[in-house]
Amino acid sequence: MSPLFPTESAPPANEQLEEGAWLLRGFATPDVPALITEISHIHEVSPFRHLVTPSGHTMSVAMTNCGRVGWVSDRRGYRYDPIDPDTAQPWPPFPALFLDLAARAAEAAGFPHYVPDACLINRYVPSAKLSLHQDKDENDAYAPIVSVSIGLAATFQWGGRRRADPVRRMLLESGDIVVWGGPARFVYHGVSPLKPGEHPLTGPTRLNLTFRKVF
Ligand code: SIN
Ligand code: FE2
Repeated sequence: MSPLFPTESAPPANEQLEEGAWLLRGFATPDVPALITEISHIHEVSPFRHLVTPSGHTMSVAMTNCGRVGWVSDRRGYRYDPIDPDTAQPWPPFPALFLDLAARAAEAAGFPHYVPDACLINRYVPSAKLSLHQDKDENDAYAPIVSVSIGLAATFQWGGRRRADPVRRMLLESGDIVVWGGPARFVYHGVSPLKPGEHPLTGPTRLNLTFRKVF
């Protein structure tokens, strides 16, 4: 039974953004310290780097990957590569916690049996941003993107299926997860320039994991 007097400690409500898309507030909060430890281990093997887009622009967000393949960009284009071009070695494997968290979040959003094969890890410092884009380099057009926010809060942009569609803005805080798949799989999304701040676990930084089913 729900309490007669809701308290401040009541879990934050999940929000359906549209069919196939959910914002799961605080879903990863208990796992955030362990996620940060895993990211630092991945960074020791495959360090964060600023990729160059096909048009020659250096991205403000620093990136690395773990999993069977990793998302990379250079003058030749965007692609998934089983080899980290910076180390000439495979990307670090998925930590068990990553797979477990991604599967639990996908299931909570209506996508059971989710087994991603890539995880792009983004690192934002103040003013870093990600312009409005669709994730469309994956072969699987149904399985969701599972996006986990860690550290400083950021303004997430949630648009429509066309670039010119209206864009909603929402604050994503550490521990929040956004899941979009099925009918929402190709929604345009982005991240506004990060505002300066200090987070107890990540300092002046925001980290983000996006899980993808590539094959
Ligand atoms: C992405 O679209 O790949 C990342 C989104 C985010 O950082 O929240
Ligand atoms: Fe994306």
